[in-house]
Amino acid sequence: MQLDAIILGAGGAGLFCAATAGLGGARTLVIDHNAEPGKKILISGGGRCNFTNIGAVPDRYLSENKHFARSALSRYTPADFVALVQKHGIAYHEKTLGQLFCDGSARQIVAMLMDECAAAHVDFAFGAAITAVNHADGLFTVATTAGSFSAPNLVIATGGPAIPKLGATGFAYQLGKQFGLKIIPPRPALVPFTLPGAESLFRELAGVAAEVAVKAGKAAFREAALFTHRGLSGPAMLQASSYWRHGEAISVDFLPDAALDWLTDMKRQRPKAGLKSVLGSALPDRLATALAEALGISGEMANHKDGVLNAAMQRLKGWSFRPDGTEGFAKAEVTAGGIDTAGLSSRTMEATGATNHLSSQNLGLYAIGEAVDVTGWLGGYNFQWAWASGHAAGQAIAEKAGQC
Ligand code: FDA
Repeated sequence: MQLDAIILGAGGAGLFCAATAGLGGARTLVIDHNAEPGKKILISGGGRCNFTNIGAVPDRYLSENKHFARSALSRYTPADFVALVQKHGIAYHEKTLGQLFCDGSARQIVAMLMDECAAAHVDFAFGAAITAVNHADGLFTVATTAGSFSAPNLVIATGGPAIPKLGATGFAYQLGKQFGLKIIPPRPALVPFTLPGAESLFRELAGVAAEVAVKAGKAAFREAALFTHRGLSGPAMLQASSYWRHGEAISVDFLPDAALDWLTDMKRQRPKAGLKSVLGSALPDRLATALAEALGISGEMANHKDGVLNAAMQRLKGWSFRPDGTEGFAKAEVTAGGIDTAGLSSRTMEATGATNHLSSQNLGLYAIGEAVDVTGWLGGYNFQWAWASGHAAGQAIAEKAGQC
């Protein structure tokens, strides 16, 4: 069989790239070491797959090159993917903040992608461990436990190492390096924080959730936070984790709707109440109790000077936590960092001849999806990048195949 492209990885990016290239007339083969496609899609969005976000604009992505994702995202938009979902009769809804989920099951998205691949005559090799990849005489040869395959184009779509138990690996980086691409050091993102022993007061709040505003570096998010046995999780904290660096503090506003004079106001309205009870009117009881204890303010509000209450309010609106780490790749929803975009064309995702060390010509090597140093916010952004980057590479491969 004469192939135009071999796509390594049957996740969202690889499947979408294969379907796009195939529908454009290219003959493609997708290789994956897992026995079935789209394992991350199946568990995503609590089993309902948050398949895109209607606000998927470039500034909601992290990358060393903030502008890299712009081209692909603008040429394949959330509306384009929604049109495909509708064409396949999949019911969906917007949950919050532009996040679109299936009404039924994430399985519908995998089935849709596999239907598109079938219509595009894509071939598959599942359960195939890759043992070597070589390039000679204009062809990539991929040796696997299911045989050896050759094609003039090779797409790296093997994602990043987040959640290894689903078959996730850092293979993309190994392969990228083999062909001269640079790697931005990968790190877990959209991942819960762990807190040191000194913060045990807060770890005792495991299970308590509250809407907060959190700041990490220059980024700020207002969403739910969840206290866990090990530290802090929930959407607000997952978002903050992508921007956090080891050693830094994060700042949490526990009362994002309250003005700075709220406690002194409450003192006048409820002079006989305790701080615990006042905070309990805006926060879950266990959290209110823990915060009042940590602030060391007990007794009636009337007994405390305005200055003391204002200082307490300032702490409540900018509580500093210094996480000692995160729960790592085992619990991360995505990997930040990865194949450096400096070596890729933002239009086609192809590694440019200027950066690979084998040839001054483009080799026909592409990288897409999570393998690349483009990481989205929580809420459907990462799948939109998988579709958009897969589409860009798929189109480029189809164009090349059409010229042969
Ligand atoms: P992906 O990791 O999906 O696919 C890579 C494929 O390559 C896998 O099939 C793997 O088996 C294969 N592979 C890896 N190494 C290999 C090797 N050495 N040889 C052969 N094959 C190899 N995003 C979002 O937008 N909305 C959401 O709701 C969620 N929810 C979510 C929940 C959870 C629990 C996680 C872990 C992640 C999410 N995400 C998400 C993130 C999203 O799943 C992720 O960004 C995309 O799946 C990335 O797609 P890729 O195709 O790039 O990689």
